[in-house]
Formats: sequence, C-alpha cells, structure tokens
Amino acid sequence: MSFLQLRIRPDRSPIRDYCTQNSIRGLQGLSWEEEGSMQHTTHLNLKSVPAHSSVSITGILETSKSATQADTVVPSKEYLTRYISDYNLRLGSIQCLNPFPKDIIVSKDAVWPPQSRHLQLRFDTHLYNRLRARDEVETPMLFKSTPEGAREFLVPTRRKGFAYALPQSPQQYKQILMAGGIGKYFQFAKCFRDEDHRADRQPEFTQIDLEMSFSTGKDVMRTVDSMMSSLDDHIRNNSINAVRHLPKSPFPLFQHPFHHISYMDAMRDYGIDKPDLRITPSNASMIHEIDDWLSPDFKRMITNIEDPIVEACKFRFIGTPQDSAKLIQKFFNTLHNTTHELSRDSTPGVFVFDSSKPLQGLSSLGHEAAEKVATYKSDSWLSCEDGDVIIIHARKRQPTQGGSTELGRLRKLIYDTAVEKGLMPKDNSFKFVWITEFPLFSPNNGDPGQGGSAGFSATHHPFTSPLTAEDVDLLRTDPLKAKADHYDLVLNGVEIGGGSRRIHVAEVQEYVMREVLKMTDQGMAQFSHLLEALRAGCPPHAGFAIGFDRLVSILCDAPSIRDVIAFPKNNKGEDQLVGSPSKTTLAQQKMYHLFTEPQPPPPSP
Ligand code: AMO
Repeated sequence: MSFLQLRIRPDRSPIRDYCTQNSIRGLQGLSWEEEGSMQHTTHLNLKSVPAHSSVSITGILETSKSATQADTVVPSKEYLTRYISDYNLRLGSIQCLNPFPKDIIVSKDAVWPPQSRHLQLRFDTHLYNRLRARDEVETPMLFKSTPEGAREFLVPTRRKGFAYALPQSPQQYKQILMAGGIGKYFQFAKCFRDEDHRADRQPEFTQIDLEMSFSTGKDVMRTVDSMMSSLDDHIRNNSINAVRHLPKSPFPLFQHPFHHISYMDAMRDYGIDKPDLRITPSNASMIHEIDDWLSPDFKRMITNIEDPIVEACKFRFIGTPQDSAKLIQKFFNTLHNTTHELSRDSTPGVFVFDSSKPLQGLSSLGHEAAEKVATYKSDSWLSCEDGDVIIIHARKRQPTQGGSTELGRLRKLIYDTAVEKGLMPKDNSFKFVWITEFPLFSPNNGDPGQGGSAGFSATHHPFTSPLTAEDVDLLRTDPLKAKADHYDLVLNGVEIGGGSRRIHVAEVQEYVMREVLKMTDQGMAQFSHLLEALRAGCPPHAGFAIGFDRLVSILCDAPSIRDVIAFPKNNKGEDQLVGSPSKTTLAQQKMYHLFTEPQPPPPSP
C-alpha cells in the first residue's frame, strides 16, 4: 500500500490519464455507509461533483490485484498516470476545482463541432492517440487578431476584409490544450510582435514555451529551475565554445537556488523590475531613499516636483577621483545622444567624494546632509572612499508602477558603461533571479493593451490570475492594487522569460475582461473560444515562456540578440539580405484588397 497525495479528474474518458469516477467509487469501505462519518461526508462531496470536472483529491493509494509493481514501491507520477487502473484510491477528501457544465452532454456517440476543438481533444480517443503518435503539438502560425497586449502583424487574405494575425505567442492555444486534457505542453514557438526595436527585441523571435495543468506558479518555477540546471550541465559537459569563460572546474555555472525578489522590493532596492545581480555594493550601492537628509533648498535645486521622493545611489570605480569625475561627466554629456534621455522632472545631483576638497566635495548638499552622506554606512552602501560617485535623483511620490525608475535605469547604464571602459571589473558570472508578485494591472503606457476603457491594462496578459484571495477581492474594489501570480526570470539584468498562473474559471476571466478592464463586447467576443474552453471544467494551469534568443545572447555575451540569429532583422525591422519587407505590387494590392482602390507603390527613395 502506498500513501500519496494525488490530483485526479473524475472523468470516464479514456483520454484521461488520471482516474475514473467509477474507480473512486469502487474504493468505498463500510464506513461510507455510516451517516455523519468523515467518509460519509467525503462520499457525499464526491457525489456532488459533476462527472468530467477538475478535482483535487487526497487519499490512500492501494495496489489492485492486477498491479504489476511490487506493492511496497511508491509508484512514480509518470507510472501512475499511465497505469492508474492498477491502483485503487481510498478517498480522503475531494474538492471540485472547476465543475463541468450541465449543458454539455458527453456520450459515446457525441460529435463535437470544430468550434469545440477542446472537447474533441478531450473526448475523441482516436484524435488523442494520433496526437500522441505524432509526439508533439504545434500551434498555428496563422492566428487571428486578439487584444492580448502587443501590437500584431496582420496577414491579408484574398477574401475581402479578412486577415489572419501572426501569434504574439501561443498563449491562447496552449491554454486550450490544457482545457482539452493535454496535461503538459512544451514547444519551440515562433512569435511575432510589431514593437519598437531594441537590442533585445526582434519582430520575430523564438520562445521555449510550456504549460502545465494542475500546477501552480511555484510548480512552473521549479520546472524552469531544473531546465536551467540541465542547461548548465549541457553547457559544461559539451564544452559549448561560444559560452564565455567556461570554468575548468566541475562546479555549476549558474548559482542555484535562484533568488526570489518581489516586484515591490526590486523597484525599491534596484529601481528596476529586472535587477542585474552582478552589481554588488563593491561597484554600486542599492538605491536609498534619503528625503530626510536633504534641505528643501537642495531638493528645489534638483527638481520642480512638489513633495518628491528623493533617492541616492553610490558608485565605486577603479582609479582616482579625477578618473571617476571624467567618466561620469562624459556619461551625462553623451546621454542625450542615446535612447535613454532623462525626463525634465529632475536633474540628477552628481557628487564625487574627494577628501582633499571642502566637505569632501559634497558642499552643495549643505553641511548637515554632506556629513550624513559622508558617514553613512550599511550592508548595501559601503562607507565613502575617495573617487566614489553619489547620484541623487527625485521622482514623483506615486504608487510604484512600470518597469523602472530613472535612477534605476541610470544605475544599470552607469554600471555597463564603467565595465565597458574598464572602470569597474567585468563579472562573467550568470546571475539569475525570479521576480514575483507583479501588479496585475498597469496604467496604459501607449501599448495597445486590451483596448478597454479602464485606463489600465494587464501587466503580463489578461489571462493572468490574481495572486491571493485578497487580490481577487481587490478586482472589485481597487484593481490597481491587486497582485498577480506572475513571475519573470531575469538573467544579468535582462528578462529572459515570463509566465503566470492562469485564470481557469470562465466567469472570473469574463469578469476581469468586462468589469475590470472594461473591454467592449466586440473585444470580448474575440476571446470567446478561450472562454468556452475554460467553461468546460478546465483544470487550474500555469506556464512560462523563455525568450530563447535572449537566453542564448546572454550566455554567449553577445551585445544584441541579432548576434545569435542567423538571419536577423535590423532596427527598422528589415532583413537587408533579402530586402524584406518588400513593396507590394498593384496586382498584389488588388488580390489582397490592401486598399479600397489599387494604389501605385510609393516611389523609390
Ligand atoms: P512574454 O511576453 O513575457 O510572455 O514573453 C516571454 C519572453 O519572450 C521574450 N521576448 C522577446 N524576445 C525577443 N524579441 C521580442 N520582441 C520579445 N518579446 C518577448 C522575453 C520574454 O521574457 N505567453 C507569455 C508567456 C506565458 O505567460 O506563458 C509570453 O509570451 O525573453
């Protein structure tokens, strides 16, 4: 007899890897009959769960007569899922996770329409077996336009007024697979997003995409942790040349376990939701709020914001105070030539600590504040030494939102510049960190979002679940305060992956879209396929996608993801090798109805 906690679905379909309701019923001992006994209550609970629902159960697993494994062995989850009929379960408790609706009648001869592909996948044994034989699931490239979050690419068709959209990710398909009883999914997925171009972005890129049913965010993070461990082993065992500075020692390249930092803590301490943990106090302090130290006069010098939050960060460079001064001056002089221009809200106060100067070079702070800065010391702020640079910066006093503060961006940029110029040591290690507890929604920032009228959009995507029961309540009262079960994996200051636990109950998903995001009926209708799939007793599920190009570029220390892609696009989204995108011809415009009236192509530049 084996003791095991197991999640099953009381489902008679042979597609189910888990357990049938009949086999659960078969376990009843005599005490099930005794009214008022615990077993009797459990029995009543079991009877109240509609067939085909998703349930969570606990119980004692017993080998049946036909079992092939010795009954002293605790079977693996894989063995169990395949040979569940070899076991009986003495039911301890049962909880319904998502009831199967009464209006969907499952019978041997039921034929499901194409709109109910999730039911075909779940109840058509032949289809399921053929997919198993194929041994992989591929999701379509020709998808449709839905307001998931990013701007899409449209693919015109010959049918007037109709277009496909390329998928920004296989998110909706993979959730439908979970509703269709495909318990786990894993794919190298091509994704397409029409975004502004940056070094770590391409309009088409690759994800290692995964989804797991009956799983939580923690389960997914553990799975990704172990994927990264295997990657580490693979790199070392196969001496992958491009991966920089392979250590000769047998020790792992990646330091496990990865840290977990909440979004709020990351924003407070690093001013960014993707902190580079190679930056340690010996090269830059964490960000410190120093409002109390400063005089109103000084604050007015650096900002015109009323009642600002004023923060500081301290940098330590290799060299003399003059070397530090030169580097930091040049940095700010050239900043406006980059994409990282500063806002007009605050002009950073920049100080070079120099014991040979009056008040150690901090005199414009005023006597008291200069003394405080010069003598302050903590674990994340080493006491001042000659050549240390202190940057003081102000920002609006408002709830933490978005991906970074200006000082957070400056901290990372100054670090990168100093390393490039040899004024800080280059750290070749790989520092992973999980960022968790993101806000569920963020104020609109110019991205298309979900097109609702709430003034905010889903931070990750609209299918992400609130983190706790309290966060579910906040949906009604103060949605911008609700936290999400959303987690990002960050490597050396770059977001290499993101995922979440999903909303698996159709009513909750609909509420978020209609009542919280205030999407129109038309916007909602674009997600009807997903809502239908959730409604059919879809199990709880969670997933993740690794940005494969970004991961490889960091492992290879390449400056841009373009450097690890065979045929990349430039920062205008062009493939100059083949000359794409290319101008449409008049004939194409006509065939694909690109314009109401065929237009001549634009003249060549
Ligand atoms: P997300 O949008 O966070 O999540 O994307 C996951 C990861 O994909 C990479 N990435 C990109 N890489 C290159 N160029 C781009 N334009 C680009 N955009 C994103 C990043 C990012 O962390 N469906 C969800 C995942 C989920 O919830 O399971 C998704 O796509 O490394």
